[in-house]
Amino acid sequence: MDDRTAVAASSRAGTDQVRRSGTVLHRRFPTIGHLRRYARRHVPHFVFEYMDGGAGSDIGIAHNWAALDAVELVPRYGVMPSLPPVDVELFGRRYAAPIGIAPMGGPALVWPGADAAMARAAQRARVPYALGTVGGMTIEEAGKLAPDVFWFQLYRMARNEHALGLDLVRRAEAAGAHVLVLTIDVPVRTTRPREVAVGLGRGPFRPDLPMLLDMLSSPAWLMALMRHGRPKFSNIKSYAGENASTNEVISFARQQMGGAFTWDEIARYRDRWRGPLVLKGVLHPLDAAKAVAMGIEGIWVSNHGGRQIEALPAPIDVLPAIAAEVGTRAALIMDSGIRSGTDVIRAIALGAQATFAGKAFLWGLGALGEAGPGHVIDLVIEEARAALGQIGAHTLAQARSVTVRHPGAFAFPKSP
Ligand SMILES: Cc1cc2nc3c(=O)[nH]c(=O)nc-3n(C[C@H](O)[C@H](O)[C@H](O)COP(=O)(O)O)c2cc1C
Repeated sequence: MDDRTAVAASSRAGTDQVRRSGTVLHRRFPTIGHLRRYARRHVPHFVFEYMDGGAGSDIGIAHNWAALDAVELVPRYGVMPSLPPVDVELFGRRYAAPIGIAPMGGPALVWPGADAAMARAAQRARVPYALGTVGGMTIEEAGKLAPDVFWFQLYRMARNEHALGLDLVRRAEAAGAHVLVLTIDVPVRTTRPREVAVGLGRGPFRPDLPMLLDMLSSPAWLMALMRHGRPKFSNIKSYAGENASTNEVISFARQQMGGAFTWDEIARYRDRWRGPLVLKGVLHPLDAAKAVAMGIEGIWVSNHGGRQIEALPAPIDVLPAIAAEVGTRAALIMDSGIRSGTDVIRAIALGAQATFAGKAFLWGLGALGEAGPGHVIDLVIEEARAALGQIGAHTLAQARSVTVRHPGAFAFPKSP
């Protein structure tokens, strides 16, 4: 066998192996719901409570899910020869599907090494990957692992005239981030009771006996911890001091971050950042209008996945009003509650150009470790294509002309 034949044969064997392992994964975890159920048993209890819990009694999370479930799409038949493509253009770049990995602090707690696993999966699949300010990987590492799909999310860090926030933006630019996302929906720090109840969320992280026993009963998670070490919050670590302990980095980050960006501050970042800028956490059409008037290219409709307070509207329910306000002047992104490709198509039908998910990827990590994010992307793409085909749309754009019943849609009072 010559070299070329050997390479071709081994690549064929590799592809077969990937296909076989994909089939096995699909059989064991045919939906994101299956991943969530398995993740609950596969990671330490305190970890599951961190990734899965929301504000209050999780009513906001339940509301996000119920609001998406309630959206019905009326199909037209006799028009669809094959499964349609779902690739999408966002800010001048083409992505394989309108699903991205939302920015998160602490995925490395869910699965040690999670940030790199998500970045690699997104790069492989060509879907957007947003690194969070308090993610477990540096901006520079993210730029290397996900050069074609890398977005960076910033929280407000206003001390010393935004010195730290502006430095993170400088690094994001140098590392090739395509999009800067300013998160505006954390004006106050709220606590999530399920986190507090397991010893997370308040004060320094000190594993107690139940936590240690939990870790010992999750051997795969423990092995990943031994391979990758404790979560480091790498982006912020260098500012807190090279020798800072994890708890010192956490308390440094808490001192630095706080409040929501004011419109003046947003304008300052607008001037500073030359690429596409997105505001994340918008729920009111007038805030969207204000952002668009300032030259912001993307509106990310979100209630932070139900993690702030329970009384916020489900993003899907305010999406049509925001879409009507924004028109084609900015790209509309939506997250909070996405658990399937069908949910993605519901959001597209109601005016979003793309969606992101947070918890779905964490459940994937919790169930499958590093293989989780890729499987979540595969599931969502497959389901989105099926949903699009089922309603008789040849393209994502056509999904917008389907007849929709949307019982929770918000009607905002006309602006004065
Ligand atoms: C564990 C966790 C940590 C998060 N951390 C951040 C963060 O650091 N910055 C941010 O903008 N959003 C953060 N979010 C919110 C997500 O970006 C996203 O808006 C939300 O997860 C979407 O809802 P879903 O989880 O229902 O998909 C976090 C979400 C989770 C679940």
